[in-house]
Amino acid sequence: MAGSDVFAAGLFPLCALADLPLEEGRCFEADGRRIAVFRLEDGVFAIGDLCTHGHGALSEGFVEAGEVECPLHAGRFDIRSGRPCSAPVEEPVAAYPVEIIDGVVHVRI
Ligand code: FES
Repeated sequence: MAGSDVFAAGLFPLCALADLPLEEGRCFEADGRRIAVFRLEDGVFAIGDLCTHGHGALSEGFVEAGEVECPLHAGRFDIRSGRPCSAPVEEPVAAYPVEIIDGVVHVRI
């Protein structure tokens, strides 16, 4: 698939899979949005980077058991779905489909 076709399909290349450390977040910008990307044992997942409670950067949060803890007030989100897991967060963050194409991590928006 040519590069322009990838963008037309709403797929945005982010980084090489090999550059993503296990169980840590990385922040990228795609389509004007901040996206937090996490590599877990079972795959790569992308959610909105800004916490719905007070805009903490989830890509900087502590990762444990498939959840990320917001660095500001310790609310937790499920990394695979974006759903809130513990107070004070109540609203989910967006979850974006991830595709690995030729070793490059892409997010679909
Ligand atoms: S800003 Fe994330 S829990 Fe408050």
